[in-house]
Amino acid sequence: MNHTHKEVLASEVTHSNLSHYEQAVERFSWKEIESHFTWYDTGKVNMAYEAIDRHVAEGLGDKTALLYSDSSREEAVTFAQMKEQSDKFGNVLRKYGIGKGDRVFIFMPRSPELYVSLLGTLKVGAVVGPLFEAFMETAVKDRLEDSGAVALITTPALLPRVKREELPLLKHLILVGEDIPEGEGLLNYQKEMEQASTDLQIEWLDREDGMIMHYTSGSTGKPKGVYHVQNAMIQHYYTGKVVLDLREDDVYWCTADPGWVTGTSYGIFAPWLNGVTNVIRGGRFSPQDWYNTLAKNKVTVWYSAPTAFRMLMGAGSDMISEYDLSHLRHVLSVGEPLNPEVVRWGHKAYGQRIHDTWWMTETGGQLICNYPGMAIKPGSMGRPIPGVKAAILDDQGREVPPNTMGNLAIQTPWPSMMRQIWNNPAKYEEYFRIPGWYISGDSAYMDEEGYFWFQGRIDDVINSSGERIGPFEVESKLVEHPAVAEAGVIGKPDVTRGEIIKAFISLREGYEPSQELKDDIYRFVKEGLSAHAAPREIEFKDKLPKTRSGKIMRRVLKAWELDLPTGDLSTIED
Ligand code: PRX
Repeated sequence: MNHTHKEVLASEVTHSNLSHYEQAVERFSWKEIESHFTWYDTGKVNMAYEAIDRHVAEGLGDKTALLYSDSSREEAVTFAQMKEQSDKFGNVLRKYGIGKGDRVFIFMPRSPELYVSLLGTLKVGAVVGPLFEAFMETAVKDRLEDSGAVALITTPALLPRVKREELPLLKHLILVGEDIPEGEGLLNYQKEMEQASTDLQIEWLDREDGMIMHYTSGSTGKPKGVYHVQNAMIQHYYTGKVVLDLREDDVYWCTADPGWVTGTSYGIFAPWLNGVTNVIRGGRFSPQDWYNTLAKNKVTVWYSAPTAFRMLMGAGSDMISEYDLSHLRHVLSVGEPLNPEVVRWGHKAYGQRIHDTWWMTETGGQLICNYPGMAIKPGSMGRPIPGVKAAILDDQGREVPPNTMGNLAIQTPWPSMMRQIWNNPAKYEEYFRIPGWYISGDSAYMDEEGYFWFQGRIDDVINSSGERIGPFEVESKLVEHPAVAEAGVIGKPDVTRGEIIKAFISLREGYEPSQELKDDIYRFVKEGLSAHAAPREIEFKDKLPKTRSGKIMRRVLKAWELDLPTGDLSTIED
């Protein structure tokens, strides 16, 4: 394979830039970054202190930390208020004996209370686990059960999705909102907060103590609890500076929900470690709403995702002139391949180059990026940030020549690297099977100038609208439906969403294919697991291709779908 990439965006792109980059890499030292933190001297650390309290101590208490809005609520919270509220919440948890190392999960829509409770949880040294609000019963139960969570912060509306009788370790449910039901283990957030003291002794931790868990999907098995430690803050702080380009007076908006890693690493930690005003917009996507959010808050730095940019592109450039986006200085993207066409459109429509960034739940922070001052080649994820070495390896772990496709790998360690897959050391080891490297599961190639180009996943993981979906989780749900005998799930290419979920299903005796049945199966997954995991397309088959050991061959399903050769079928059943 030989690729030549002549196209570059903006005129500043030249060798001087590249040498600038080499110099930054040369000069770089993580140690120097660490010296920014309070714990550099004390040796003891707490993310919530560095993100919030520290700014208050340094005289920025009156600065706006959070600019929250949704369709029914608007609130500005200062760093001092955020400190006070999270101190109180820390005391609420302490009152119930919750502390260092305990897992405390949060399952609710975005709201100021979500951010307060997340920070308060960190303050007492507990490990926080944010769950996306669209998760249904099975998804919630799997995660709470695996993590052994002792407390959950949620809302009365979401409470029915929490199967408490099946979760003996889950002792406390802290309910946010109105009309709080009463009962054993049910606590009223507001009442508890009213009674709580603002005087909290923060739990000082070691850098390798736990901080946050995000569940994410692989191609087999249940979702994995990706466990991150306090040390990750080095990467959050640093990339906030050099990749997000955050400066003191910035108003920053990351559109991701904290249920996903982007919504915490870059929706909470990076902006607040850098002391900037953080915009949070609740509710659903609409082009008008988003442009209005940018204009009304005078957003300067905006971090979003390809699916959103594609939808905005679909909504057309005309409407943009109705909003004052003149404050925008820097735009970034993450989560899925960013089409060159979208980068070019963004340049015209916003006068902004959209900066693609690559990283994963497991990496905890950005690793390969287009950052300010760097030449952008539309379609490329950029270059490794200073302090990080990336390479393309063959299956034996040898680096391959430029422009050759292979495994995208990162040299270990880096500060925000995951430290565990919860309860599953064997899974963790798989990522590090080549000594000295983390194997991402993505395939890519590197060009002669050290730019990385995404090619696809090596496993069967599906990426729909930037959300990572494990086919196994969906298949497991599908076979619970009374009509489904077997199911195989693949990602089908889609212009807007990147991929959509397509399920191939064989039916049990006595069931006939019909549109009603498809609708019913779709609803079953949507209501049992989550909307984003439900198959938008279903195809009934008499039989599914399986290996002799009974494993459904997703690659054959994919080949059927894309009209490609099915490849080696030597292991197929018959
Ligand atoms: O396949 C890559 C894709 O998203 C995966 C990671 O998903 P998740 O853990 O949910 O984290 C998403 C946000 C950090 C990767 O293995 N991905 C992420 N960023 C990019 C990408 N694919 C192409 N280009 C990107 N910039």
